Amino acid sequence: MKKDIILTGDRPTGHLHLGHYVGSLKNRVKLQNEGNYDKMYVFIADCQALTDNYDNPDKVRENLREVVLDYLAVGLDPKKVIIFVQSMIPELAEYTFYFMNLVTVSRLMRNPTVKQEMIQKGMEESIPSGFLNYPVSQAADITLFNTTLVPAGIDQEPMIEQTNEIVRKFNSLYGETLNECRILLPDNSICARLPGLDGNAKMSKSLGNCIYLSDSEEELKKKVMSMYTDPNHIKVEDPGCIEGNTVFTYLDAFCKDEHFPKYLSEYQNLNELKSHYQRGGLGDVKIKKFLFNILNEELKPIRERREELSKNMEYIDKVLIEGTEKAREVAKENMKKFKKALRIDYFD
Ligand code: TRP
Repeated sequence: MKKDIILTGDRPTGHLHLGHYVGSLKNRVKLQNEGNYDKMYVFIADCQALTDNYDNPDKVRENLREVVLDYLAVGLDPKKVIIFVQSMIPELAEYTFYFMNLVTVSRLMRNPTVKQEMIQKGMEESIPSGFLNYPVSQAADITLFNTTLVPAGIDQEPMIEQTNEIVRKFNSLYGETLNECRILLPDNSICARLPGLDGNAKMSKSLGNCIYLSDSEEELKKKVMSMYTDPNHIKVEDPGCIEGNTVFTYLDAFCKDEHFPKYLSEYQNLNELKSHYQRGGLGDVKIKKFLFNILNEELKPIRERREELSKNMEYIDKVLIEGTEKAREVAKENMKKFKKALRIDYFD
């Protein structure tokens, strides 16, 4: 069987958070370490970040290296993964331009992720065409490198569908040239879309409901202690509700049986803890402290590695420059085939 070409990216609009971590970063590190792939690319989607931050380019610029710090801190290894900058691959803009012919405006307007973002950003009345088009540019990101597998959260599913539609249209018009791809979601469905601290459906920087990989232990504790639980669970004796209770949603995502003897030895497993909460007699502070310990165990080594790496920003630049050079080589090569299919390879 042919091995996968793996690609995924992140917008540098802030530090990466727990939603990124469980939704995609963990899967990337796993794939990287299994080593069973042809090539693996992880890139900083600065062009995409500018589609809704065109008025704040400094924000994008400032976060470029921060995202790389997050990558290396979680264990991505530049020897195994090509880490590159989107805007430094001009072929991506070329692909996007030709793909725009293959997608209708109404199709783009139907993209559920774009729709949701438009509402969140107050763009319903007037949407910049660049933003509406970002799924097309994302199709370019994916196809330029012949990607077959995209590790991402469930909010990226509409982008993968859109990409495959473009691929089929391109191939039927111009001949078999591009690959279709599939998404790799986390096994645990809660991890595919981790809610925010406030119980909002998505952890998102613009909603201010995130735990960042770079948060200090104190920040983490403060955030966990402020999490949304059951608003009707006022006294410890009151029966509590598990559904929609963010602390339990996070426990479903992160808690394993082995955490109990270490941090909460009165219980054997999460089911026991849940039924006690539902019966009444279990306070929020106790479950929050438990969750804090579990999260801190996972985030502490990441935080420490990040701190260490941040002392050598020249190394971070080197990773980006070398990775981008490698990606550019592939891009140039694949661009030839693309232009040939489009009959615009005039003097080759
Ligand atoms: N849309 C992704 C996000 O918001 C970032 C992204 C850009 C991406 N291009 C991609 C993800 C290609 C996967 C594949 O996080």
